[in-house]
Amino acid sequence: MLSIFHRTKRKVDNSQTIADLKRLAKKNVPRATFDFVEGGAQREISYARSTAAFSNLQLNVSISKNFSDVDTSTNIFGRKVDLPIIFAPTGYTRFMYHVGEPAVAAVAEANNMIYCLSTMGTTSPDELATAVPGVRRWFQLYMMRNREDSLRTLKVARENGFETLVVTVDTPVAAYRPRDIRNGLTIPPHLGIRTIAQVIAKPRWWLNLITTKRLEFAAFRGWNKPMADIASYLFDPSMTFEDAHWLKSVWEGPIIIKGIQSVPDAIMCKEIGLDGVILSNHGGRQLDRGTVPLELLPKVVEAVGPDFDVYVDGAVMSGEDVYGAIACGAKGVLIGRSYLYGIMAGGQYGVQRAVDILRQELIRTMRFCGAGTLQDAQTLGARIRES
Ligand SMILES: Cc1cc2nc3c(=O)[nH]c(=O)nc-3n(C[C@H](O)[C@H](O)[C@H](O)COP(=O)(O)O)c2cc1C
Repeated sequence: MLSIFHRTKRKVDNSQTIADLKRLAKKNVPRATFDFVEGGAQREISYARSTAAFSNLQLNVSISKNFSDVDTSTNIFGRKVDLPIIFAPTGYTRFMYHVGEPAVAAVAEANNMIYCLSTMGTTSPDELATAVPGVRRWFQLYMMRNREDSLRTLKVARENGFETLVVTVDTPVAAYRPRDIRNGLTIPPHLGIRTIAQVIAKPRWWLNLITTKRLEFAAFRGWNKPMADIASYLFDPSMTFEDAHWLKSVWEGPIIIKGIQSVPDAIMCKEIGLDGVILSNHGGRQLDRGTVPLELLPKVVEAVGPDFDVYVDGAVMSGEDVYGAIACGAKGVLIGRSYLYGIMAGGQYGVQRAVDILRQELIRTMRFCGAGTLQDAQTLGARIRES
């Protein structure tokens, strides 16, 4: 057992980039699990475009200052975080690796970062708060058809110290993800002929999964509904800006809307008194060929001005990407797959490695560009080249 751990640790330590962690992750977990994380909707064009947008970034450099020491910290809702990187909400995290959400939250705590728990988490808000009481935590909500159900979930989150509410609005219908269909992925996973072949291929991963707690949407434990039906029961396709007023009346802390894909919608969020937006296309997992968040970013920042937080996500795979997003005006970025590769590659240790890689790359980029702080990065700026 110990030698397995040492072997994993060595491989994780040898990973130099997030792409290395991704390769390791692919070897460690069943194909259906890897594809669930990696895959996008339809033809996966949105995700490819987000990736291309980051590749096309050109960072401005100034030699007027030379920094041996740089400061990667920023203030989010009045409190300092050490990195402008937030762990995005990802549903069903224990399916990637049995340690699940608490392992990611523990890394967030250790690095003074923020962790956002998904409504569809395999750990409930109270379990997360008990497991990692010191982590700064946000709660992501999918608005439910029955507002009383939303209220019940929000109450648990609030009572358990979740400070900010993140409302995801890019899921009016369930996405079509061909990889999951081809792999016969069901939630919860069923043992069929195809699955048995996968068990034989990755016995350790399965052993971990079946010997630890049940895979479930933990916030809905006791709802007495089949798990497979929960997602379709939950999502409310009729959610509009009217609901934002209702949310403001029931949630005391900051509220951010995740999945904004246009300048007018971002302006509207500001006008109705919300606290920020996350420009996101759900990592290319919902609408294919939607807006590319990074390309939208400078336009939104210009439209809403400096006193409104604008975050961005989708295909952030390096510290250069983080720097580029900040230079284009983002308050911070959210990462999904980057840390999920880490957890699939080596559990909590792998998530920490992902953070270390991103941090080192960000620091190196800041020094190359001549930015001592994230504020300097915004002053220096960046440009998205035409591809
Ligand atoms: C496996 C997986 C599950 C996700 N689950 C959720 C979710 O439950 N709620 C949500 O708002 N976003 C969810 N997302 C989207 C992320 O929050 C984030 O927007 C996206 O992952 C960013 O792109 P990236 O993975 O390329 O970093 C999920 C993403 C992945 C990869």
